[in-house]
Amino acid sequence: MLDLLHTTKTHDETRQGEALDMVPTGASNGRKLYIESYGCQMNFSDSEIVASILIDRGFETTKDFKDADVVFINTCSIRENAEQRVRNRLKEFESAKARNPGMIVGVLGCMAERLKAKFLEEEKLVDVVVGPDAYRDLPNLIEQVDDGAKAVNVLLSREETYADISPVRLNSNGVAAFISIMRGCDNMCSFCVVPFTRGRERSRDPQSIVQEAKNLFEAGYREVTLLGQNVDSYKHAQKNEDGSESAATVNFATLLAMVAEVNPLLRVRFSTSHPKDITDEVLHTIARYENICNYIHLPVQSGNSRILDIMNRTYDREWYIDRVDAIRRIIPGCAISTDVITGFCTETEEEHQDTISMMEYVKYDFAYMFAYSERPGTLAAKRFEDDVPEEVKKRRLTEIVALQRTHGHERIQDYVGKVHRVLIEGLSKRSDQHYCGRNDQNAMLVFPLDARYKAGDYVDVLGESCTSATLIGKIIN
Ligand code: SAH
Ligand code: SF4
Ligand code: F3S
Repeated sequence: MLDLLHTTKTHDETRQGEALDMVPTGASNGRKLYIESYGCQMNFSDSEIVASILIDRGFETTKDFKDADVVFINTCSIRENAEQRVRNRLKEFESAKARNPGMIVGVLGCMAERLKAKFLEEEKLVDVVVGPDAYRDLPNLIEQVDDGAKAVNVLLSREETYADISPVRLNSNGVAAFISIMRGCDNMCSFCVVPFTRGRERSRDPQSIVQEAKNLFEAGYREVTLLGQNVDSYKHAQKNEDGSESAATVNFATLLAMVAEVNPLLRVRFSTSHPKDITDEVLHTIARYENICNYIHLPVQSGNSRILDIMNRTYDREWYIDRVDAIRRIIPGCAISTDVITGFCTETEEEHQDTISMMEYVKYDFAYMFAYSERPGTLAAKRFEDDVPEEVKKRRLTEIVALQRTHGHERIQDYVGKVHRVLIEGLSKRSDQHYCGRNDQNAMLVFPLDARYKAGDYVDVLGESCTSATLIGKIIN
């Protein structure tokens, strides 16, 4: 099990098993909920909403599924192996259900949305299938199962943002939290299943976002990450003083500034930026506020314009390079990370080399890299043949992973000998004699404990040495 709070991963379905543990504030119903999440940060954030809805109805949460009355698995469909992992995990729930036939097993999230009622036929132990926009219906669906039925709600919504539900911050270090600012996606990248599993894009009311950030700050949190599939297309009608909607809209740059102004001690991060939408206005806002972190996740997918075109990414190589240049110009020292897919339909060796040269150009601080996995129902599955052989996809992947390892290492070596403002997140995973925390650029630092400071404090740390991905240093203030 990986620790959500000690990883910079944004889109890796390998994170798993974040089990939540909390007791209800109101009357207990004596039932225990276990919930485990896969996929992107949106899913982890959604699980906090689900837990909130059920704790409100008297459920307690448990970290042990064998001990649970209701077992939920919040799933991801992004690649074939993400779905396979969920199916394997469901098998592990079978023996627990055999011992406790009253146990309810529910599948939530993107796989639930993709497979709908078919899930009930394919996996007999599943009692409930619930899509990402139907979590308010969970108490009702559980009742239906209590009455002996199987229950499904996979309706997608154009409005649902769960804005009024305050997520329970479980499994948290009490320092960093996610805030969902929008849901769904209106881009139609041809490889991607998300528009089908998450529905239309909609932005959450900015006032509720700012309020959530304020509440977190007051509860001692010092970092928020604003989440959306494409944060740069955030757009919400501004409210007039009397609460009515005005003609003006709040865009992402304005929202970033609003959240940054909650408190200078609150660090603001965000993910994911789409290269077609990230504006100079957003970059200037990042540069203007000390507490908006100098780190941008800007997925490139491919460095070749023909591939980008058939991926329907709606930018080309030159456009992407222009955005990277703008970041370097407006926010000097800004870290950039990316996502890359190797072996997309018809990708040639030369086109793969364009991805390599793009990586050489940007020298990403971090990258999430994947071999293309065809997803049923996507535009690519309908239009193009998945014709790059598996071993070629894998070989290209190995090449870019090796290249990225060198770039990542070079970046972190650059930080040695420099002083970094670090927000202490807690004890290091490897040693209870060390703290860990990140610098502005999202690099992880590890440094010896110091009784003067605790999690949530800012310290200046001198980078003294590094491993492949972590800086090792000491507090100097
Ligand atoms: N909204 C984000 C991406 C979310 S999915 C964006 O537009 O950047 C996270 C990453 O998974 C994508 O950036 C892509 O690199 C990868 N991915 C998505 N579909 C995939 C597929 N079918 N095969 C392999 N990788 C995929
Ligand atoms: Fe998928 Fe593209 Fe939307 Fe990202 S922007 S979620 S890759 S469709
Ligand atoms: Fe996976 Fe759904 Fe996120 S498919 S990556 S959990 S939006």
